[in-house]
Amino acid sequence: MTLNVIDVALGARSYQVRIGQGLVAEAGRQIAPLLRRKKVAVITDDTVAARHLMTLAQALEREGIAMTALTVPPGEGSKGWQQLARTTEWLLDQKIERRDVVVAFGGGVVGDLVGFAAAILRRGVRFVQIPTTLLAQVDSSVGGKTGINTAQGKNLVGAFHQPSLVLADIDVLGTLEPRDFLAGYGEVVKYGLLGDAAFYDWLELNAPAMARGDAALRQYAVTRSVEMKAGIVSRDETEEGERALLNLGHTFCHALEKATGYGDRLLHGEGVAIGCALAFELSQRLGLCSQEAPSRVRAHLKAMGTKVDLSDIAGELPSAEALLALMGQDKKVVDGKLRFILARGIGEAFVASDVPSDVVLDVLNEALKLRSVS
Ligand code: GLY
Repeated sequence: MTLNVIDVALGARSYQVRIGQGLVAEAGRQIAPLLRRKKVAVITDDTVAARHLMTLAQALEREGIAMTALTVPPGEGSKGWQQLARTTEWLLDQKIERRDVVVAFGGGVVGDLVGFAAAILRRGVRFVQIPTTLLAQVDSSVGGKTGINTAQGKNLVGAFHQPSLVLADIDVLGTLEPRDFLAGYGEVVKYGLLGDAAFYDWLELNAPAMARGDAALRQYAVTRSVEMKAGIVSRDETEEGERALLNLGHTFCHALEKATGYGDRLLHGEGVAIGCALAFELSQRLGLCSQEAPSRVRAHLKAMGTKVDLSDIAGELPSAEALLALMGQDKKVVDGKLRFILARGIGEAFVASDVPSDVVLDVLNEALKLRSVS
């Protein structure tokens, strides 16, 4: 088995992301050195539990580690006060102490919820991420952003709390629905677009075979994505500067997610893919990059079969003005001005803090027009 190990260098809070096949079945051996007593509390969701919890339980048992487990319902609805209260109180009932380790076993929702529960439980307990979706493996499990959604918006309540270890098992990606895998691909392509043109070239060539299931290609794509994220996070843990680049496509995405109700109409990674295409369109309109760049992005995303145009979203969408207003509520607004991640070309993203809203409206109006004629 090839095991790639990426260090997230954060001084006393440094940790490793280990990427390879069969890591869930190896989890006991991987986690054991972190434990001061042979007991872990695992939180997962019903879908992941049905597919993989037995494998994890056996792996822990082989190392003599006692496991207690809680499942939450799958889906974004679990990332809220109700499941946070349930999770933290359950951890207290299980007598999880500061020296213990909590395991977040699932996708981005479970990772964010459990990471936040671990951050506030007894003022902070250690936790291990075992991400089971492509999106969680390449993005949300790494970097310590944890939190929940509230009536006011997504991720508005949370904490930076770094995991002690991340185990990304490439094999579990094989059990994802194709739509979920492709949604995660939105976050993979983001890395090439924001800072690594050679990786983007590689994805154009190899991502179709990767999506079909090639494990070696998946391993490379996850490893390169995590390498890029680890580098950015270790230089800018709390998003004072460079880390904002990871939000490429996200300002458009958050408005579209809000407009579609954070549900099945648009998955987060699908919104990121559409958002990346729109961010390149906006960059081109502002004269920052050539026309070739947005065309290349759209052609690749289309070839992958992921959502790329507003016409790929079922049902009604609000007007360009209403979408712009939804962007204004994004938590990354600084002094009332919209901030966008724009690009001078593929692999050359930067933070632009004062983008003229009329150009954003033009881009949105054009995208909505294409939608009404398709
Ligand atoms: N998902 C963006 C970040 O971790 O900063």
